[in-house]
Amino acid sequence: MRVPGDKSISHRALMLGALADGTTEIFGFLPGEDCLATLTALEAMGVAIQRPDDTTVYIEGRGLHGLSAPSSVLDMGNSGTAMRLFAGLLSGQRFDSTLSGDASLSKRPMERVAEPLRLMGAVIATDGGCPPLRITGHQSLHGIQYEMPVASAQVKSAILMAGLYASGPTGIAESTVTRDHTERMLSLFGWPTMREPKRVTLPDGGRLTATRVDVPGDLSSAAFFLLAACLAERGELILEAIGLNPTRTGILRILELMGADLEIDEYSREAGEPCGRIVVRPSHLHGIRIPPEFVSTAIDEFPLVFVAAALADGETVISGASELRHKESDRIKVMVQGLRTLGAAVEELPDGAVIQGGELTGGEIDCGGDHRVAMAFTVAAVAAKGPIRILDTENVRTSFPDFIHCARSAGLKVSEATSD
Ligand code: S3P
Repeated sequence: MRVPGDKSISHRALMLGALADGTTEIFGFLPGEDCLATLTALEAMGVAIQRPDDTTVYIEGRGLHGLSAPSSVLDMGNSGTAMRLFAGLLSGQRFDSTLSGDASLSKRPMERVAEPLRLMGAVIATDGGCPPLRITGHQSLHGIQYEMPVASAQVKSAILMAGLYASGPTGIAESTVTRDHTERMLSLFGWPTMREPKRVTLPDGGRLTATRVDVPGDLSSAAFFLLAACLAERGELILEAIGLNPTRTGILRILELMGADLEIDEYSREAGEPCGRIVVRPSHLHGIRIPPEFVSTAIDEFPLVFVAAALADGETVISGASELRHKESDRIKVMVQGLRTLGAAVEELPDGAVIQGGELTGGEIDCGGDHRVAMAFTVAAVAAKGPIRILDTENVRTSFPDFIHCARSAGLKVSEATSD
């Protein structure tokens, strides 16, 4: 089985492609609503983009200073990545812009990007710390040395995007490793950063040159099927061409610690990203204390970790994961409520949960409009004692438009009810 292209890498390929000199070709692009929000915003700023098919994108780069003022507000939909990375990119433009989002994104914290960008000379207003973001152009930005108070690749990437327009080097130190797709992609486009453990520095005065980007399959999408295959009674699942960037593989480490039978074979490099095959066999999972160092490298997979824990033998403790409260939903709250609905004994913690593993019943779940929560509960149904009905699932299209089809091809019994 293959899964669609990586969401984080697809966003970055579009943005850097738009700012590069020449035509960038992206293969394996994720045609999810989040990445399409980025694509549409770039078109609104004068970038010519062709899509000969859903997953292939040709971008006529306009160079670093070639974007034009959009005629209206740029709508980021549900995408935190689009909003935060654009905040950095737009801080360096010679025009004003406004970024808005849907109801979920409108509640997410944006001062975490606005603050460091202001230190660089950007002029950004938030609405009580949340979107919309109003960015006043024509500023001259300068590099900063910034210690990140939160573990966030989106914040790091926003600063790097602004750093493309800054005088002097831009340095960022992080106390916890976060995904490094921006750093890798900057190298691919010919403007490498200097990298030390937990520190990155972008030199000033570089330029971006168009390139070919082959996007690996999204490990965050593959993860649903990793757990489904662990819970299966027989057979084996082979996932091909999956991104295996070590800043993303926390879920593999967590599942292995829980007893998952995984074989991981890294066999290629796509777009500067390690890529390979994962073979999964039915496994007997047991509860663990999740090592805090795996939280940031598995940050998007926690809805699934909650489900794995509820179906494992014994107790699982998740802690140090308060960032989950600031995702597309409050993922701690929504997962705790959902698992309780299915009969699990779960204690909610400010920064995680204590989950007693065992059986799950069927039931009706409100996923809070959160795509990853909806998909995690779909996987729970593989082992639950009755059917699970999940409400408010439209946002699955933001990251995995083909999910139902892929899930069925992997043998999950899932059907889509139309909402009226
Ligand atoms: C992302 C970073 C993560 C992740 C998000 C995508 C990115 O957010 O949750 O889905 O592409 O940089 P944070 O870096 O804010 O934790």
